[in-house]
Amino acid sequence: MKILVLVAHPNLEGSRINQRFAKELQSIENVTIHNLYEVYPDEKIDVAREQQLLLDHDRIVLQFPLYWYSSPSLLKKWQDEVLAYGFAYGSDGTKLHGKELLVAISTGGPNEAYQAGGYNNFTLSELLRPFQQTANLIGARYLPIYSVSSSFQLSDEQVEAGATAYAAHITREW
Ligand SMILES: Cc1cc2nc3c(=O)[nH]c(=O)nc-3n(C[C@H](O)[C@H](O)[C@H](O)COP(=O)(O)O)c2cc1C
Repeated sequence: MKILVLVAHPNLEGSRINQRFAKELQSIENVTIHNLYEVYPDEKIDVAREQQLLLDHDRIVLQFPLYWYSSPSLLKKWQDEVLAYGFAYGSDGTKLHGKELLVAISTGGPNEAYQAGGYNNFTLSELLRPFQQTANLIGARYLPIYSVSSSFQLSDEQVEAGATAYAAHITREW
């Protein structure tokens, strides 16, 4: 199984979690790391290249820090342009059928905030519904999300453990 990890962090150098998580994947066979903000500093996405990358892999991981309960904007632009009619949806848009989609996020807020009655009111699975339904529409199987909360409060040991667990989560059979 070939895994494509789209990392979408506008400031990976200043990142603690996503940088460490991406690094954890570097030495894993059959995992391609594709750092969108690094590849497209001008945010002009090469749609053909991105579609070919999708075709070449079986599992697509979207890795990003949660920004305003969603993804950083370049990943949204990527969705708007790459998941095109006739490729990802529409009567002939069957190219991604049978793929797997997995969302991996870090949040600033703590785990307990992401529930009914917590200050963010909704669970992460609820907030990420647009990704789930996008998977449905493009014929991909939506896999359980991976998340790390309280990003600013984590000890170095917790970040290390999170990186190990992340690698296991995205490479296992589901
Ligand atoms: C513009 C912006 C929006 C953010 N929105 C949220 C949010 O909606 N919920 C949340 O829990 N954290 C939010 N955060 C915190 C980030 O998710 C957090 O800084 C990030 O996950 C830490 O990962 P990193 O070390 O890889 O940067 C936001 C941060 C920024 C800069």
